[in-house]
Amino acid sequence: MDDRALNLRLHAACSIAAEAGALARHLFLNRPQGDYALKGPQDYLTEADGAVEALVRERLATVFPDDGMIGEETGGSSAAATWIVDPIDGTANFARGVPHFCVSIGLLVDGRPELGAIAAPMQNELYAARRSRGATLNGRPIRAAATGALSEAVVELGWSPRRPAADYLTMTERVLASGASVRRAGSGTLGLAYVAAGRSDGYAELNIRAWDVLAGLVLVAEAGGLANDFFAAPDWLSGAPVLVAAPGIGAALSEIVGIPLSAARS
Ligand code: IPD
Ligand code: CA
Repeated sequence: MDDRALNLRLHAACSIAAEAGALARHLFLNRPQGDYALKGPQDYLTEADGAVEALVRERLATVFPDDGMIGEETGGSSAAATWIVDPIDGTANFARGVPHFCVSIGLLVDGRPELGAIAAPMQNELYAARRSRGATLNGRPIRAAATGALSEAVVELGWSPRRPAADYLTMTERVLASGASVRRAGSGTLGLAYVAAGRSDGYAELNIRAWDVLAGLVLVAEAGGLANDFFAAPDWLSGAPVLVAAPGIGAALSEIVGIPLSAARS
């Protein structure tokens, strides 16, 4: 895909993420308390997830009818260029009235993460990145933190029932023993974006879905952070481990959580 086509897609992703974020914000501010269902244990679903995904799907299909799209709620199919979309990441927060959630839109071309846009509508924040073109937050360049030691680091950890609790407890214990502080804010996508913006020094989760990480992985790489090669896993569509980190602590954190970092693919 040439430069012009990718640029067009980055602009479209940003404007669709902003529009979808505005819808999510409206639905969040007007939701009756307790208005959610559970798809499974600790797996929340709100009406907003479906409504926001429908909006994103409609917009993308109108502008790029030949591109594929896979969404968290309604699936889809892939093509040479495939959009991977999480309509609301941080659904558990959204459902319980916590304003830490986002809309994530990423693009994979021939298996390689090319660009991403993430809207966090309650904070009026729009993150955007394109491979080799940098990462921005509300139009301003962002960089991963300069933190050089785990004893000074803040690391976010995510978990889900997809892996045994004991594995997460071991990981958490090891990160705490390194001297790092551990955070769990409930949106894997924003967890990655916060590493790109220098607000955290790392994010790790033993099994996470592609729509949670694609856009954030482009952001982290473009902000000078380190990441594992999530899309190298043959079954990445059904979930894989993720690790992103500020460059000064990446090697040490990788050793502790047991997720290898990759050399950047170009
Ligand atoms: C979840 C969140 C959570 C992460 C889980 C995800 P959802 O996505 O990103 O932080 O730990 O692995 O499934 O359910 O909020 O879209
Ligand atoms: Ca998600």
